[in-house]
Amino acid sequence: MKTYLVTGATSGIGEATALQLIQEGHTVLALGRNETKGRDLETNGHGRLFFFQVDLAVPSEIERFFETTKEDFPTIDGIFNNAGTFGKPVAPERVTDQQTEVFQVNYHAPEQIIQRAAKRLSRGASIVNNSAIVGHVKFPAMLLPYASSKSALLTLTKTYAARFHGKYRFNAICPGPVDTKLSHSLYGGKEKFDLAMKHHLRGHAAHPSEIAEVVCFLLSDKASYINGQTLIVDGGYTLT
Ligand SMILES: NC(=O)c1ccc[n+]([C@@H]2O[C@H](COP(=O)([O-])OP(=O)(O)OC[C@H]3O[C@@H](n4cnc5c(N)ncnc54)[C@H](OP(=O)(O)O)[C@@H]3O)[C@@H](O)[C@H]2O)c1
Repeated sequence: MKTYLVTGATSGIGEATALQLIQEGHTVLALGRNETKGRDLETNGHGRLFFFQVDLAVPSEIERFFETTKEDFPTIDGIFNNAGTFGKPVAPERVTDQQTEVFQVNYHAPEQIIQRAAKRLSRGASIVNNSAIVGHVKFPAMLLPYASSKSALLTLTKTYAARFHGKYRFNAICPGPVDTKLSHSLYGGKEKFDLAMKHHLRGHAAHPSEIAEVVCFLLSDKASYINGQTLIVDGGYTLT
């Protein structure tokens, strides 16, 4: 059984992935901000889920997490860099420094986590970065910082895969619309989101567990020959 680090484990895709990993018998270091939710997950985690309150917008909190866990969890077998934020949607010509948090959470935090974890990764460890279809397939103008940070994450994924020659694997997923808090707030509420999803190729968005299944596969040794890839998981959304 393995030890995995999952960011954004307190909701949506990250929570579904953490729960699936637990069900498969693995140990999960679950990062998030929402302490109530994190402690609930820990209570129901069969003693194998450990919650850590870490705000990824604050680099010193990431540093502290790695310092405080190095003795109890000296080996990490995989990472799901999942947490993300789209910030405040704004026209590209109005983007200001206030949007820097988007880049910190979506790009720099995964980068720092990989750098800090590198010394503790087991041979064959698998890193999965949660990107998005925006930024390289779709280009919603109001989401420039989000889209460009997610695009940069793809470059980071491929660069690290090339750097480590298969010692560790690095892949990215690009989900289409998923039924989570993040997409509800982007569309102005769940009702509006569900209505918009009627135009999806299959008529509705993904359940978070449909993305978790793919992530758990990529994290596992079953995907040992998949490295440096970007997998679009969108139910055909980008076909139309
Ligand atoms: N939903 C979609 O349609 C979709 C599509 C493509 C890609 N994605 C990506 O999927 C990832 C997960 O999103 P989701 O859809 O599952 O949304 P979600 O349910 O809203 O979950 C977002 C998670 O990110 C965490 N998070 C956000 N900012 C953070 C910060 N500063 N520090 C630590 N944790 C932070 C949240 O933690 P707390 O709740 O504890 O604050 C939460 O656990 C994101 O990277 C998103 O870009 C989503």
